[in-house]
Amino acid sequence: MEGVLFPRGVPEGREGLEKYRSRGGYDALSKVLATSAEDVIKQISDAGLRGRGGAGFPTGRKWALTRETPEQPHYLVMNGGEDEPGSKKDRVLMENLPHLVIEGVIISAYAIGAAKAYLYINAHYEAATKSITDALAEAKDAGYWGENGSEFSLDIEIVPAPHNYVAGEDTAVIEVIEGKKAWPRQKPPFPVTVGLFGKPTSVNNVETLANVAPILLHGVDWYRKFGTADSPGTMIFALDDDVNRPGVYELPFGTPLRYLIEECGGGLKNGKKIKAIMSAAPSCAFLPPEKIDTPLDHYSMRDAGSALGCGVVRIVSEGTCIVEEVLRIAEFFAAESCGQCPACRMETSTLSMMMKKVQQGQGGQPILEQFGKILAFNKGKGFCSLIVMPGPPIESAITLFPGDFEAHLATGKCPAN
Ligand SMILES: Cc1cc2nc3c(=O)[nH]c(=O)nc-3n(C[C@H](O)[C@H](O)[C@H](O)COP(=O)(O)O)c2cc1C
Repeated sequence: MEGVLFPRGVPEGREGLEKYRSRGGYDALSKVLATSAEDVIKQISDAGLRGRGGAGFPTGRKWALTRETPEQPHYLVMNGGEDEPGSKKDRVLMENLPHLVIEGVIISAYAIGAAKAYLYINAHYEAATKSITDALAEAKDAGYWGENGSEFSLDIEIVPAPHNYVAGEDTAVIEVIEGKKAWPRQKPPFPVTVGLFGKPTSVNNVETLANVAPILLHGVDWYRKFGTADSPGTMIFALDDDVNRPGVYELPFGTPLRYLIEECGGGLKNGKKIKAIMSAAPSCAFLPPEKIDTPLDHYSMRDAGSALGCGVVRIVSEGTCIVEEVLRIAEFFAAESCGQCPACRMETSTLSMMMKKVQQGQGGQPILEQFGKILAFNKGKGFCSLIVMPGPPIESAITLFPGDFEAHLATGKCPAN
């Protein structure tokens, strides 16, 4: 299937400068420099590009808000923190298509009026960091960025991202770049007005930025041929070891979930049947197998009761106990809460402790009723959205699979064993 980012399928190996140029690489940048920044932002808005880092915020709007804030200087931050379990799309893009990513960075900096861009890259991603470092040198030598490079001056610097989940949250990213702990800030103010060093900042995910050059090179109409009217373009989805062909797959928005699982992933390993699907693991609601034909786009997933997040699709096979599954998720969030906000620290550790009790058969039916109350009480009380993330998996699991919970509570044993 033709894609925006992977026109000939997921590339094998790293694409160097010459190969990238032979398929129109950096032509979008040349076009852009002959256009006003406002027009670039308009094209990105008209294309309907939305952030691929999880929240799906409209990119053109974020850029316009940054550009229009009079305070100077402005900064661009590429978010390649990628520490969500199962996520690997940003690593693949940085390793294999570094120039596509860098061209997106340069154009985005031009659009928001930034003279400095920071590339925040997961410190464990050695190959990706090397690929981007080498590509930056190649692109600088070719005059695409730098002091005397393109018609606007741009400095680009790589900053290693600490290996923890919260360090990918945009204001935590900003704190790390400022040399501080990866602790999110209270919002508002949002980074578009008060961001890095207190200045207007656009934080954009790697995949978001990778979409920029193709849109500007081929045009809005071309881009809108992919996906749906409400969710134009494509998105990269990641499948893990639950399927026969794990990996990353770029699909137009609106493609049925079934296509991803069966055609791309080759179905579940050992011919197992599906018990539940998470379309945005680990923080979305479980979907029952009947929802397998739900289109993979923002609105359809929301209507189905779930979300798209950053495209990590987890499939739970029949025979797996949902209580064990949810316990692992609750423990993950308890471990990853940065501990800064008392409500988040207490909520995530309490939920994890309660799930452990359920697993061991303690608490009876009343403990199940407590989950919703604790989640509702703490909603909105953290600086970042980690505080709400355990809710959808826990509450959907209790609703969809009461039998698994009842079995644990009645016997203290796992029905799967
Ligand atoms: C706990 C947490 C972790 C996050 N991790 C990442 C991450 O690794 N990469 C990313 O791009 N966005 C991550 N985000 C979302 C960012 O805060 C932000 O929305 C995103 O970088 C904006 O880019 P986009 O508009 O291109 O999606 C995370 C958010 C939260 C709450």
